[in-house]
Amino acid sequence: MLPLQPAGPTLRSALRRRLLLGPASMPHQKAPENPSARLSLISRHLGTEYPINTPFAVERHPDTIDTSLLPPRPKHARSLSTSSNKMSSFQAPHPTLLIPGPIEFDDAVLQSMSHYSESHVGPGFVATFGETLSMLRKLFQTTDPASQPFVLSGSGTLGWDLVAANLVEPGEDVLVLGTGYFSDGFADCLRVYGANVTELKAPTGSRPGLPDIEKALSEKKYKMLTVTHVDTSTGVLSELEKLSEMVHRVSPDTLLIVDGVCSVACEEIHFDKWKLDGVVTASQKAIGCPAGLSISMFSGRAIETLESRSRPPAAYFASMKNWLPIMQNYENKKPSYFATPSPQLVHALHTALTLILARPLSERFAKHTEVSNKIKQAVAELGLKQVASDPKNQAHGMTAVYLPQTVKATELLPILAKKNVVFAGGIHREIASTYIRFGHMGVSVMNPERGDIDRAIKALQEGLAELGYQKA
Ligand SMILES: Cc1ncc(COP(=O)(O)O)c(C=O)c1O
Repeated sequence: MLPLQPAGPTLRSALRRRLLLGPASMPHQKAPENPSARLSLISRHLGTEYPINTPFAVERHPDTIDTSLLPPRPKHARSLSTSSNKMSSFQAPHPTLLIPGPIEFDDAVLQSMSHYSESHVGPGFVATFGETLSMLRKLFQTTDPASQPFVLSGSGTLGWDLVAANLVEPGEDVLVLGTGYFSDGFADCLRVYGANVTELKAPTGSRPGLPDIEKALSEKKYKMLTVTHVDTSTGVLSELEKLSEMVHRVSPDTLLIVDGVCSVACEEIHFDKWKLDGVVTASQKAIGCPAGLSISMFSGRAIETLESRSRPPAAYFASMKNWLPIMQNYENKKPSYFATPSPQLVHALHTALTLILARPLSERFAKHTEVSNKIKQAVAELGLKQVASDPKNQAHGMTAVYLPQTVKATELLPILAKKNVVFAGGIHREIASTYIRFGHMGVSVMNPERGDIDRAIKALQEGLAELGYQKA
């Protein structure tokens, strides 16, 4: 590691004091004559009724900040999940995060984000980024040199924009398989860029059947079909292999695009074998890297579609035309620039992928299935039902559980949090208040010595009992 940049000893010790003690320990600065006037020039969009956290916050007298609007601070650190790992983990004790993303992170991944600052076009980072892109080929199981990985700063949603802005042109027809909140979002995004979207929606908790999809494809020619591999709002898993066989048989020119945000690295995906044209995902779920990266793989056919567009993509940052040469250069270890990547996040992704690929992928998928089965069995033993109604439709990286009628998510989730387990509430429009979501991906599954899953199951059993629930 490089030594710290030289900084004045007073500033350095003040900053260190600030880190340790909080803002009050900063040297006193005289507030300007008319602070609110200056503030409004700097950030006109900030309302005065909210506490602000800007470099200029010092201009506000502390008394003007209503601290009741701030989230409560825990009085003392909780002992928990990483506590079983205390000896080896540098992470502060914290409740185990078992929502369907972001997930718990491996120490090594977090540590790699503390990489010293380096140029995004310097040889060290170019090599790391290049290796990261090559490792993604292994994760997606593609050896076809025409396949193209992309890693961009952004969240999973950026993947939708990439698809919608680059692979369809305004007025072209897209068939979206509707499985819940996230497929609805993908459909909305496609519409924003002018696609003519048809949604084939399944009843809540299930997925459209192959015969219905086949019928839709035979009635109209679609430029693209999108499928949400795991709809994180329902825990519904879509079947890709048979879907792809059918699409290639019935409508071979239709591009098959997968939203793999909640499936890449925990559900099987064979990019080449299943002839997928695009899989878009994000860093913060089963890949186990902090949020902030949009990760995708596109086929040679998708890249040809991009290159043969009749008009340029109506996007700038999300233009794959702008990023394609950059990704190719990085992978060939040549420096390249379109917009600044995040070296620290790419380092974290490099570490996360190295950890994943250190073991056979088949082992990883089998472990996620085994742990998922155990959780689903525990849910059934509690007499509870899953939102994903058919075992064939059930994801392996999360479980969406209907609550007993007498139990409210708003009561149960805080009880679980007191037991140091964080689950998520429901987000599907029609059933949001009736269920909770338990995410089981990444280290919580692959490193059973952490005890995350057993602790979560126990917390769920106890939490329900405390709310008076008994299995009928
Ligand atoms: C299936 C699916 N698609 C897309 C997204 C959007 O990703 P992000 O929230 O990272 O933008 C999510 C987020 O949870 C998701 O679960």
